[in-house]
Amino acid sequence: MTMTAIVQDRYGTEPADVLRLDHVDRPAIGADEVLVRVRAASVDRGTWHLMTGLPYPIRLAGFGLRRPKPLNPGRSVAGTVAAVGADVTGIRPGDEVYGTADGAFAEYARTKAGRLTARPANLSDEQAAAVPVSGLAALQAVRHAGIQPGEAVLVIGASGGVGTFAVQIAKAHGAEVTGVSSTAKVDLVRKLGADHVVDYTRDDPTQARHYDAILDIGGNRRLSQLRGALTPRGRLVIVGGETDGRWLGGTDRQLRAQVLSPFVSQRLGTFITSENAADLATLRELIEAGKVTPAVDRSYPLAQTAAAIRYLREGKARGKVVIRI
Ligand SMILES: NC(=O)c1ccc[n+]([C@@H]2O[C@H](COP(=O)([O-])OP(=O)(O)OC[C@H]3O[C@@H](n4cnc5c(N)ncnc54)[C@H](OP(=O)(O)O)[C@@H]3O)[C@@H](O)[C@H]2O)c1
Repeated sequence: MTMTAIVQDRYGTEPADVLRLDHVDRPAIGADEVLVRVRAASVDRGTWHLMTGLPYPIRLAGFGLRRPKPLNPGRSVAGTVAAVGADVTGIRPGDEVYGTADGAFAEYARTKAGRLTARPANLSDEQAAAVPVSGLAALQAVRHAGIQPGEAVLVIGASGGVGTFAVQIAKAHGAEVTGVSSTAKVDLVRKLGADHVVDYTRDDPTQARHYDAILDIGGNRRLSQLRGALTPRGRLVIVGGETDGRWLGGTDRQLRAQVLSPFVSQRLGTFITSENAADLATLRELIEAGKVTPAVDRSYPLAQTAAAIRYLREGKARGKVVIRI
């Protein structure tokens, strides 16, 4: 039983050089695993990190020391359950699901049952595939920040994959949200429901006012700068921020935040996204209630996955980029 898939044999920074379309065997599943017939997948910044093996610590996290272990760097999926392992309960062949899987840029992908759940009924395949990795990061960032109704929240990186979800989820928690983006994406952030938008190419978003919480998703601003924009008991959650650092990739800033936090009145922290069915179900509820809608910029066919990754890497994406399968 074969399938069409994107295949990656080595790490590299040019998507077209390291990703190829091929026919390969369908993945075999273990007793606690699920085989998904993928209808759509999506691209996020993590896709680029998995493709390049950078920063290096990602290779120690089980993704392959010298060459990538997964078939390809795809992770977010929406599709139909094709088969389940002997120990899997609660998921059956034919179920419409969304979640995360290994090698998602393929007709079939393998995953653990705990990384999937029923997909939102009101979304297309492409919209559903846009949710998992970025939506989970946004939901968990809002939770880590402990956002309460009426609080002033700054979302830096509001126009990206994580940020477009974070703005909407913070609004759903009753916050007054200020979103930060570049000039061309100000209209997108406003449409997402942000109360205020700061164009970071013109104004310094950390000068404007004092926030109860900051979700820092892009731009790698200094900790002192971010702390200066928080109330004395404000919370900073660092989700990420791209650097070209091959060893630390910006994680030194996150480590410093955690070391400093016990010694200051503000709470400074970071987290690694947990890919779990319970949070996917929470996202489904928010989506079906009309409180969150995935912001899909554009979609590419499977054969053009390399172009989709390059588009995101170049900073052009307005929200999410999806792969049709
Ligand atoms: N902690 C975790 O487990 C976790 C999970 C998911 C993602 N992440 C990390 O989170 C980061 C964002 O991921 P993503 O998928 O959302 O990426 P993305 O879609 O490329 O979005 C990046 C965002 O950063 C903004 N940005 C870029 N330069 C900026 C600057 N100087 N000032 C303010 N904003 C700036 C972009 O705004 P414009 O496009 O308008 O310039 C865009 O909104 C990545 O570093 C990723 O690795 C971490």
